[in-house]
Amino acid sequence: MEPPLLPSLLLHLLLLSTTITTTFSASSTTPKTPSPISSPTPPNSTTPKTPSSPSSSSLDPKQLRALQSLNIPTSKDPCTQPSLLPPNTTLCDSSKPFRHILSLRLANCSDDVALSFTALKSLSTLQSLQFFNCPIAPIRFPADLVASLHSFTCINSLRRLTGVWLARLQNLTDLTVSNVQVNASGPFVILGNMKKLRSVTISHANLTGSLPRHLNLNLTHIDFSGNKLQGKIPSSITLLENLESLNLSSNSLNGEIPTSFGDLISLKNVSLASNSLSGAIPESMSAIPGLAHVDLSSNQLNGTIPKFLSDMKSLKHLNLANNDFHGVVPFNVSFISKLAVFKISRNSNLCYNHSVLSSKLKLGISPCDKHGLPMSPPPAKGDSSAEDSSDSDYDDSDGDDSDQKKDRHHGPSKVVLGVAIGLSSIVFLIIFLVLLSKWCG
Ligand SMILES: *[C@@H]1O[C@H](CO)[C@@H](O)[C@H](O)[C@H]1NC(C)=O
Ligand SMILES: *[C@@H]1O[C@H](CO)[C@@H](O)[C@H](O)[C@H]1NC(C)=O
Ligand SMILES: *[C@@H]1O[C@H](CO)[C@@H](O)[C@H](O)[C@H]1NC(C)=O
Ligand SMILES: *[C@@H]1O[C@H](CO)[C@@H](O)[C@H](O)[C@H]1NC(C)=O
Ligand SMILES: *[C@@H]1O[C@H](CO)[C@@H](O)[C@H](O)[C@H]1NC(C)=O
Ligand SMILES: *[C@@H]1O[C@H](CO)[C@@H](O)[C@H](O)[C@H]1NC(C)=O
Ligand SMILES: *[C@@H]1O[C@H](CO)[C@@H](O)[C@H](O)[C@H]1NC(C)=O
Ligand SMILES: *[C@@H]1O[C@H](CO)[C@@H](O)[C@H](O)[C@H]1NC(C)=O
Ligand SMILES: *[C@@H]1O[C@H](CO)[C@@H](O)[C@H](O)[C@H]1NC(C)=O
Ligand SMILES: *[C@@H]1O[C@H](CO)[C@@H](O)[C@H](O)[C@H]1NC(C)=O
Ligand SMILES: *[C@@H]1O[C@H](CO)[C@@H](O)[C@H](O)[C@H]1NC(C)=O
Ligand SMILES: *[C@@H]1O[C@H](CO)[C@@H](O)[C@H](O)[C@H]1NC(C)=O
Repeated sequence: MEPPLLPSLLLHLLLLSTTITTTFSASSTTPKTPSPISSPTPPNSTTPKTPSSPSSSSLDPKQLRALQSLNIPTSKDPCTQPSLLPPNTTLCDSSKPFRHILSLRLANCSDDVALSFTALKSLSTLQSLQFFNCPIAPIRFPADLVASLHSFTCINSLRRLTGVWLARLQNLTDLTVSNVQVNASGPFVILGNMKKLRSVTISHANLTGSLPRHLNLNLTHIDFSGNKLQGKIPSSITLLENLESLNLSSNSLNGEIPTSFGDLISLKNVSLASNSLSGAIPESMSAIPGLAHVDLSSNQLNGTIPKFLSDMKSLKHLNLANNDFHGVVPFNVSFISKLAVFKISRNSNLCYNHSVLSSKLKLGISPCDKHGLPMSPPPAKGDSSAEDSSDSDYDDSDGDDSDQKKDRHHGPSKVVLGVAIGLSSIVFLIIFLVLLSKWCG
């Protein structure tokens, strides 16, 4: 009797324990129960309602026709059922008897779409207008639309714009133009009269001229990357104490970084990469408390790398590669491994102290001799193309960089725990049964 009993008992217990495991992991991974759908109590009738109309009114017929002329499907009302359109195509107000469009986004337009003055005139309630991949011809915007627009975005659209055309949009708080040719003698022509501007991106637009000496002091975001801007960075730019991000990368700027750069006390991200800037990193930069992202790569900056950078608590991304810095890198391993990106390669007179930093960090520079000069043989791992392309060269080094990776494995842990409990209870049962059978037999 006993031999056949044991396997069947085992099987039974195995099944039981798996059931427990699955129930456990299922209950522990299900999200918090959603709040009950709708309460059966009728809604309050205190608010006066137009008896005939349903919950919301429909779009102004003039605006509906304007949308049709822009090839936006309108078989269903875009205000009441915006989800039938691509995300964020329209946003409407809730006025009566007709609703009006506040925000319109045209993306991936077909060739036969054309902007008409009449259509734009009836869309003069728009506060936000966005074009993505719409190579349609730009036209002069009606004055009513110009007055109402707060936000204008044009990415790879409208073929070509002029500074004069953009400069009319004087009520903008946000201007984004990218991957569009912009003909203007400089940014000032465009921005000079935009008194309410908070955020400006004019990037990859072949914009010429020099940086404006006077900018709106409330600007929080400036991106002029990928243009043909020339001349110096005016020191007046450091008056922008609300500026959080500044991107002037890939232009032809020269001269030095203004010594008052540290007056940009709100700055979080800055890129001045790929220009012709020279001189030293200004000492004042140490006063910017929240600086997180610093890219000064591919210039002709010189001097030593300042030690204060390692005291900047928020710093996560530091790229000083491809400059003329010299001397001993003033950082230790714990600072470098705290950063998500750290690049200093291609600074031929820069070296690292072998007793402070390991060659395993693959910094792309030589170790120092005892005089603090680069040892004569250039980096043995001379594969400079690998150094240039990899973002965090120290990924495969020692364990010090594990901090960043500690927090990653949260998702599946409950399932793993469930399986572990299941398996260990099976093992426990088997041992128990073996002991039991020995004891009985
Ligand atoms: C209904 O009206 C009562 C009293 O005015 C109020 O306390 C309650 O919050 C209202 N309920 C809803 C769903 O508006
Ligand atoms: C676009 O829609 C997404 C959700 O689909 C939303 O998170 C985002 O804020 C919207 N963007 C704008 C500019 O309205
Ligand atoms: C536009 O086209 C691109 C690429 O074809 C696609 O990724 C994107 O989702 C499209 N956008 C809309 C709003 O249809
Ligand atoms: C900007 O908006 C105001 C009202 O908010 C309006 O009076 C003014 O004419 C607008 N400016 C332009 C250039 O349209
Ligand atoms: C900028 O100019 C170059 C050549 O001068 C051209 O190839 C490129 O397409 C232009 N960029 C834009 C956005 O028009
Ligand atoms: C834009 O600038 C280019 C080069 O400066 C010039 O050839 C072209 O004629 C200009 N286009 C317009 C519309 O002004
Ligand atoms: C900056 O913004 C403040 C309020 O946020 C406003 O009072 C002030 O006029 C603005 N200054 C400029 C130059 O636009
Ligand atoms: C700074 O850059 C990071 C990515 O590097 C981005 O997530 C963040 O939003 C940026 N902050 C600002 C103020 O632009
Ligand atoms: C600056 O702009 C370039 C290109 O437009 C982009 O790749 C880079 O991430 C930006 N950097 C910052 C700090 O915003
Ligand atoms: C650093 O660059 C500045 C400006 O080009 C130059 O005047 C200075 O001599 C350079 N200093 C060193 C140590 O090369
Ligand atoms: C590494 O450098 C940082 C910043 O200078 C400093 O606070 C820290 O004590 C140093 N760590 C070691 C192990 O020397
Ligand atoms: C390298 O670091 C060691 C230990 O901190 C120090 O004694 C030595 O002077 C440094 N060498 C150079 C060249 O800075």
